[in-house]
Amino acid sequence: MSDPISSQGARRARTVLADTASRAAELRRQLHHHAYQYYVLDAPEIPDAEYDRLFRELQVLEEAHPTLRTPDSPTQRVLGQVLPGFAPVRHKVAMLSIRTETDTTAEGARAFDARVRRELALTEADAAIEYVAELKFDGLAINLRYEHGVLVCAATRGDGETGEDVTQNIRTIGQIPLRLNGDAPPVLEVRGEVYMRRDAFNRLNERQREAGEKTFVNPRNAAAGAVRQLDPAIAAKRPLSFFAYGWGEIVGWDAMPSTQAGVLEAFEQFGLPVSGERTVAQGAEGLIEFHARIAAARDGLPFDIDGVVYKVNELALQQRLGFVTREPRWAVAHKYPAQEQVTTLRDIDVQVGRTGKLTPVARLEPVFVGGTTVTNATLHNEDEIRRKDVRIGDRVIVRRAGDVIPEIVGVVPSASLDAARLEGAGAEALAGAALDVLERQPDPAAVAEGTAVEAAEPAVNPNDYPGRSEPFDLYQRLGGHCPACGSDITREEGEVDWRCSGGLFCPAQRKQAVLHFAGRRAMDVEGLGDRLVEQLVGEGDEPPLVRTLPDLYKLGFTALVVLERMAEKSAQNLLDALEKSKQTTLARFVFALGIRHVGERTARDLAAYFGSMDRLIRASEEALLQVHDVGPVVAHSIRTFFDQAHNVEVVEQLRAAGVTWTEHEGHQAAPPGPLEGKTVVVTGTLPTMTRDEAEALIEAAGGKAGKSVSKKTAYVVAGADAGSKLAKAQELNISVLDEAGLRALLADTTDEK
Ligand code: IVH
Repeated sequence: MSDPISSQGARRARTVLADTASRAAELRRQLHHHAYQYYVLDAPEIPDAEYDRLFRELQVLEEAHPTLRTPDSPTQRVLGQVLPGFAPVRHKVAMLSIRTETDTTAEGARAFDARVRRELALTEADAAIEYVAELKFDGLAINLRYEHGVLVCAATRGDGETGEDVTQNIRTIGQIPLRLNGDAPPVLEVRGEVYMRRDAFNRLNERQREAGEKTFVNPRNAAAGAVRQLDPAIAAKRPLSFFAYGWGEIVGWDAMPSTQAGVLEAFEQFGLPVSGERTVAQGAEGLIEFHARIAAARDGLPFDIDGVVYKVNELALQQRLGFVTREPRWAVAHKYPAQEQVTTLRDIDVQVGRTGKLTPVARLEPVFVGGTTVTNATLHNEDEIRRKDVRIGDRVIVRRAGDVIPEIVGVVPSASLDAARLEGAGAEALAGAALDVLERQPDPAAVAEGTAVEAAEPAVNPNDYPGRSEPFDLYQRLGGHCPACGSDITREEGEVDWRCSGGLFCPAQRKQAVLHFAGRRAMDVEGLGDRLVEQLVGEGDEPPLVRTLPDLYKLGFTALVVLERMAEKSAQNLLDALEKSKQTTLARFVFALGIRHVGERTARDLAAYFGSMDRLIRASEEALLQVHDVGPVVAHSIRTFFDQAHNVEVVEQLRAAGVTWTEHEGHQAAPPGPLEGKTVVVTGTLPTMTRDEAEALIEAAGGKAGKSVSKKTAYVVAGADAGSKLAKAQELNISVLDEAGLRALLADTTDEK
């Protein structure tokens, strides 16, 4: 006899669990749907916060009822534990490679079509063969195994027969569905390429560079490193993407299409990302057209490709054609010019940027890379040159991909140089071999810590050879002076860049200096916008009307009225605005000088403390340190600024031009900015402004641009790919804004003059 009470209880418990299970299933369904909208279609239907809420609800349910946790649950994307190593996975169907057509002209496509027709014993009288033309993604091949629609295993290609089980890392890629949409067959192995977008790659390297860490040579290596990263948490921080292009084992797919194009469409229906840049082409001419179209579009693509792939469309024809050794006869890769090449570094010059940043630039033996001849490439900063141990005279690897500035990604180790010379290898092969060697070199930091595998050997520089030049020293090279204006150059502790200290005088920084000077919270010259300033400082061929700030006050009606988009009325308005701006406060004037690290609030503190411009100009670092909130970095920056005779001269000339300010102020100070006394941290990539610009705006509004998030942070402005700082903000319950939110905040009182 069963106990009526407990069986009733058990029944109730079962109903509760059944309800919970159906809720969990519903949440999984919704989360899958929204992840697909977000990651694959890039068309989110709900705000991120709502997604997070659904996600947390599912997490809570699963924690309370672990039996509800399914392998396809979105909560299983990020896993905590570090893998001890990767388990081998034997591929059910070998992962083969394809033949490469290295002839980068149209002939490559014709040769392939001719071969296929010959194999099929077709004559000229027979119709054109139908092909699918796809992109050849430059990433890492992956096999995704779905059983009854659920992702059960992801493996690398390995040697083609056996790969590595990287399921945990692959699960962190938002674009890869953990469960397929619709009626998936019992077994479906999807093959495709895991890759890193160029923007993600550039941001990753930017972050590495800022942290003084090793940068990645190219997106492919970064992606491969992330996939094979044993800690899924680190893998998850390297944003990866995926495109499906083929398949392995398939069991029980009754509705399998009969063409390559049809299968790709079916993949899209399943929710898998498939590149839209593909076409069904008739005969060689169709292929040539695609090859040419993609060649023109290549630089504008958001990811690297190294060519296009042609495949016979009919699967029945593919089968008839079969394989030669390990390559299908029905497919070929048709390459484009390589994006990495080897050349000689002739010299290193230094360029001055708009904000005074000094960037070392490589002068190269001209080399054809990624479709154009390259003679200059960026070396980013001095530390990076040292880290890569790049020296004048070295054989270096140049990368040019997309519209970004070409860069030096490494030195060809002398050992591979020797080997290549013996073999008579071309530059492209050498770049490939050298990149492999670079990737295999032990990390110097790991060597220092003794954690690198080959740390026992004494430190011998593999690049060194007799007669090699000295390591590059930026300060020495410039003799300590800005190449554009001769001012002293400085590099602050903890910063990677050297800078010119002649902000007011330096021709390279003219535009920036004028815009800042005229800004609302500085001298407030109405109508002096970006376009106009460009004309004034002569970014074109004309000699500039404005060389330094005092020239602004020498502008006359006749000079202005001939400028583009300048009617008589606006010319007069500008002159009036300039006249009006001459009457200002010491605080505004100090801020308007654009001294590095002197935001609006610091300017006000300096004005209040010193009371006169002359006293500020003469102030020693010790005196400056007495000012509220002025630390050693700021004090040094101010002192260096006024140590440049040119800068002081500009101040004097402004005074001579009639600019006057009220000294001994306090009551007449500019109104407090909207961010007065607040610390704001900017993280991630904002849609329209750089981090420097956002921080300058924050400081201009009286705020402090913080580097790390703490309880004292008032706001965090988060852009795309915001990482740990955003997480920290959420943890501490700090308000998070996007760029529009920041602008709204700044506008708050900017208009309330
Ligand atoms: S098809 C049997 N299609 O290129 C045919 N491969 O050697 C299998 N790849 O490592 C390959 N884009 O990872 C194919 N649209 C595409 C591709 C592609 C890139 C890679 C693939 C493999 C290599 C082919």
